Amino acid sequence: MMSRITCSELSQKITTAAAAAAEIKDGDRVAMSGFTGSGYPKVVPGAIADRARCAHDRGEDFAVELWTGASTAPELDGVLAEVGAVSKRLPFQSDPAMRRSINAGDTEYVDTHLSHSAQQAWFGFYGKLDVAVVEVAAILPNGLLVPGSSVGNSKTWLDLADRVILEVNSWHPRAYEGFHDVYYGTRRPPERLPIQLLEPMQRIGDPYLRVDRKKVVAVVETTAPDRNLPFKPADEDSKAIASHLVDFLRYEIDAGRLPKELLPLQSGVGNVANAVMANLADSEFAGLTAYTEVIQDGMLDLIDNGKLKSVSATALSLSAERAADFNENIEAYKGRILLRTQEMSNHPEAIRRLGVIAVNGMVEADIYGNVNSTHVMGSSIINGIGGSGDFARNAYLNFFVTNSLAKGGAISSIVPFASHVDHTEHDTQILVTEQGLADLRGLSPLARAQRIIDNCAHPDYRELLQDYLDRAIVANPAGRHTPHLLSEALSWHARYQETGSMRD
Ligand code: COA
Repeated sequence: MMSRITCSELSQKITTAAAAAAEIKDGDRVAMSGFTGSGYPKVVPGAIADRARCAHDRGEDFAVELWTGASTAPELDGVLAEVGAVSKRLPFQSDPAMRRSINAGDTEYVDTHLSHSAQQAWFGFYGKLDVAVVEVAAILPNGLLVPGSSVGNSKTWLDLADRVILEVNSWHPRAYEGFHDVYYGTRRPPERLPIQLLEPMQRIGDPYLRVDRKKVVAVVETTAPDRNLPFKPADEDSKAIASHLVDFLRYEIDAGRLPKELLPLQSGVGNVANAVMANLADSEFAGLTAYTEVIQDGMLDLIDNGKLKSVSATALSLSAERAADFNENIEAYKGRILLRTQEMSNHPEAIRRLGVIAVNGMVEADIYGNVNSTHVMGSSIINGIGGSGDFARNAYLNFFVTNSLAKGGAISSIVPFASHVDHTEHDTQILVTEQGLADLRGLSPLARAQRIIDNCAHPDYRELLQDYLDRAIVANPAGRHTPHLLSEALSWHARYQETGSMRD
């Protein structure tokens, strides 16, 4: 283990998780590494939770603001939320205990575009950062840090924090050195420079994270694995979604709007987006590239079967089985996977220049194409917007994918009006369900509505949607651009809450 911490100054600071957690005070702003269940600190959060529990038992307050790259895992979000130790959370989460705490009103949640979180922190929009807790794979003799399975916002947290705690995790292969590209050229406006990233695998930064050694107050050694949830196996519906999407890509190639090796792919979080990538593996496409946020199992399959040449991302987000396999064979992926800061993996300028093809999951879409990616019945958060907005608005092509039904058919994913809007009708281009694909590019609202109803809605709800649209047109002689029945627009959601079904 000593070989992972070869900087003599920092090796003097090796201590226990409990001693490291003692550096954190009630009310601190604490930023941690981690992007999905990858590269997050594994033991210090638990020790902070113990401190909070003891303080609460004594009748004292103890809660921190928690910033990360994105979602993490039960050992971080879960343990802290369960003891009520998080007063405010940003920029993304997907943990059941944290979700409960947010929806109960106990934790404030600032659901932020993932490309924005680092720059908004260094602009000073979130206040002063007290502590950074960052997991790395190794510390080099000169004090430079080798990241592990994610980069996320770690660079910004190390730069901004007054005090730094490092977790050095030997579960990450030492061979991670060389897999990262950490861009240190960020400036505040008006001194900002163009991001000279001209192709997905181009290096524009350093392979290491830098830290001011004087700020490091503790170094803790760990061996715990990353923890990502396993994906649901691709079912018939997700295979149908993938098949519509692949047919559409062929159509775009035939129309001369896409090269035959496509453009760099982005695939969002979730089962459906993962299944779509897995199904692309069976298509004829080859020589593909990806400029994305996370590498889920489906994308690794594409690399393994030779369809995907290379992937730029900010994190691996693999099931336990695939992570173990990746760690074992990491050398085979060198030069084919590059992990960047999330500022760069999700950078609007890079996404637009490269012409990314973005595929993201959604909760529901309305007949005009407004997309809800985050909320159930308008009020309860599921995860957050994540990087979907970064990619969707700036992509060459954006797809939003979902099953047309949820909760055994009690919910239609196509509704008269979205109960929450993350992506507006001005951003969304192509909606896909197992029923079919609606290409909305260049269409007016009424034409979009007809196409979404015809192509994406489930037959059980199609007539109801058509009836809503027809009556909305008649009821709005002076508002035929985007006609709605205001008293009914959210009635499907209200009916679900009252009766347990959106059906009449
Ligand atoms: N109304 C209510 N609940 C719905 C719903 C709807 N219209 N559609 C789906 N759900 C529920 C499902 O029933 C499921 O709940 P369960 O876990 O209790 O069974 C849950 O939402 C997830 O649905 P699933 O069909 O498995 O989709 P998914 O795993 O592909 O996730 C999102 C879909 C939208 C939650 C996910 O893509 C997400 O969080 N997106 C936002 C962030 C993002 O896009 N990041 C990527 C940027 S790179």
